[in-house]
Amino acid sequence: MKRIGVLISGGGTNLQALIDKQGSVIRSGKIVCVCSNRSDAYGLERAKKAGIPTRVIRKNADCGGDDAAFNRAICEYMKSMNVDVIVLAGFLAILGGDLLTEYADRIVNIHPSLIPAFCGDGFYGLKVHEAALSYGVKVTGATAHLVNEITDGGKILLQKAVNIENGDTPETLQKRVMEEAEWIILPEAVELICKGENYENN
Ligand code: GAR
Repeated sequence: MKRIGVLISGGGTNLQALIDKQGSVIRSGKIVCVCSNRSDAYGLERAKKAGIPTRVIRKNADCGGDDAAFNRAICEYMKSMNVDVIVLAGFLAILGGDLLTEYADRIVNIHPSLIPAFCGDGFYGLKVHEAALSYGVKVTGATAHLVNEITDGGKILLQKAVNIENGDTPETLQKRVMEEAEWIILPEAVELICKGENYENN
């Protein structure tokens, strides 16, 4: 069983999907800790309800606003919990440094578009759906991918398409992309990495 550490920043609906799919979709790993960069993230409550240990590490308040110190603090926490695989489940800060080296090919992110569309620096949360709607694409979706030093640039593990409907707002689209894509492919991608099988052809 691989030990999974989850990083969050907000509501934590993707964390909830991971919790709910332990033992069914996720058979080769177990969530052992949840870390948030915001103390008010509702996902922390979801973790507590599921009996999962939590930690808050804030870049400004705890790490003097220093990126390297922030990444080191997260890395040290993950190592102290003997984490094998890190999942970014709506984690809206950029990672780098020690953490990426230490956990190379063992960090999975979920992004709410079909990469390479609407991704990279500045594309997160509702902004991604606003961009898709203003461009006028008819299909969007979600991508689960490995994390490297390029924002949203790591190897793609799984993608799922979602149709855009007449009258969609960023909020209705975000909800549909979560329900029809993110909550499905993120647990599947985590299982792929935990199982350690060759995922090239998945
Ligand atoms: C999700 O839509 C996730 O894909 C997105 O933030 C939301 C978090 O929701 N992540 C990004 O935009 C990363 N670039 P959640 O806290 O309810 O899981």
